[in-house]
Amino acid sequence: MKTNIAIFFGGKSVEHEISVISALQAINALDAEKYNVIPVYISKQGRWFTGDALLNMQNYRDLKALESKCTEVFMRPEYGDYNLYGAELKGMFRKSNPVIAELHVAIPVLHGTNGEDGIFEGLLETIGIPFAGCNTMSSANGMDKINMKMILRSEGIPVVDYVWFTDKQWISDREGIINKVETELGYPVIVKPANLGSSVGIGKATDRDSLVAKIDNAEKFSQRIIVEHCIEQLKEINCSVLGDADDHISSVCEEPIKTGDILSYEDKYMGGSKTTAGMQASDKRIPAEISNLQTKRIQDMVGETFRVLSCHGVSRVDVMIDEKDGNVYVNEINTIPGSLSFYLWEASGISFTELMDKLVQLAFKRKRETDRKTFTYDHNIFAMGGTGKGGTKSLKGGLKGK
Ligand SMILES: Nc1ncnc2c1ncn2[C@@H]1O[C@H](COP(=O)(O)OP(=O)(O)O)[C@@H](O)[C@H]1O
Ligand SMILES: [Mg+2]
Repeated sequence: MKTNIAIFFGGKSVEHEISVISALQAINALDAEKYNVIPVYISKQGRWFTGDALLNMQNYRDLKALESKCTEVFMRPEYGDYNLYGAELKGMFRKSNPVIAELHVAIPVLHGTNGEDGIFEGLLETIGIPFAGCNTMSSANGMDKINMKMILRSEGIPVVDYVWFTDKQWISDREGIINKVETELGYPVIVKPANLGSSVGIGKATDRDSLVAKIDNAEKFSQRIIVEHCIEQLKEINCSVLGDADDHISSVCEEPIKTGDILSYEDKYMGGSKTTAGMQASDKRIPAEISNLQTKRIQDMVGETFRVLSCHGVSRVDVMIDEKDGNVYVNEINTIPGSLSFYLWEASGISFTELMDKLVQLAFKRKRETDRKTFTYDHNIFAMGGTGKGGTKSLKGGLKGK
């Protein structure tokens, strides 16, 4: 029997289009002998659609027309119900929603907000379906640049110095925040919304005026803002990790090529100033031109990052080398990386098809492991009269220890 795999992609994110590209690449790579692939496109409004029209990239030019060629679907938030249901009650006598597919495993290929940040993973965990990639907790920690840096720093993994604050604090205490940035970091600094991706909302500030302008801009995208020490002589290196927290391997390293100060959206997906869309078009050096020693150090550091964040599946960790002193810092982790980092695995001797197989196997492995844990505690306090003694009075007093 073939395994029914749902690939979820699109989503309410500034990286919606990038997710479409990654997902179609992943669908093409899945072994058709082993798997039935069910594409599930999540629109920018958050509606779910399935259908063959989703498999043709050209159809995404007109999203309204694409949606009309597809079937709207949903899953119920009930533990153990892995069905994908049709949303429309077509036909006069139809009382229940039709089952469009019985899923066995889900692979989220969603980038950024509402997909890579644990929100979607929370739904999958509620349903209990085996799924590829990070769980809710590790997705959330990996996505938030502030939480991620706090965890890494406390585990002894080097990250650049930073200051963080909320949009409310920025409104109420501008002076205090500016002073903190100037005394703790000095210029130049990099200002980032805490939870976006693809360089959206990120800017470099070289003085007080530009700091205010960059924070005002970042604040439009996120409630949490991070300002970081800027590495001026920067070499960026990316390295992918595959496996789970206890057992993982690191890929070869790549060096993405940027055209300005900051690796931009255009650099990442359009090959610098060129206009051919797609991550395969971005300029990069594989393997990166760094020493074997440096490569090994980075591979160990990214593996350790994956471990302390309890990651799962395939992630890409981006590190920064300060060429002034040779120090290496972890910049960020992408828990659902662009193109699922297949090009780094191909260069490491693992084909895209094998990578997809591995993600499916890991999803089932985690499901077996979590199913072994106990989630209920067999004591019925109501049956035992636990709340009886003080009657409702004890409830009014609050639940001790909760
Ligand atoms: N501390 C820093 N110093 C210098 N450049 C940085 C720093 N942080 C980020 N950058 C530049 O900005 C780019 C985007 O930042 P990053 O944190 O990776 O955000 P995103 O999640 O949007 O990819 C990086 O690839 C790098 O070119
Ligand atoms: Mg980045």
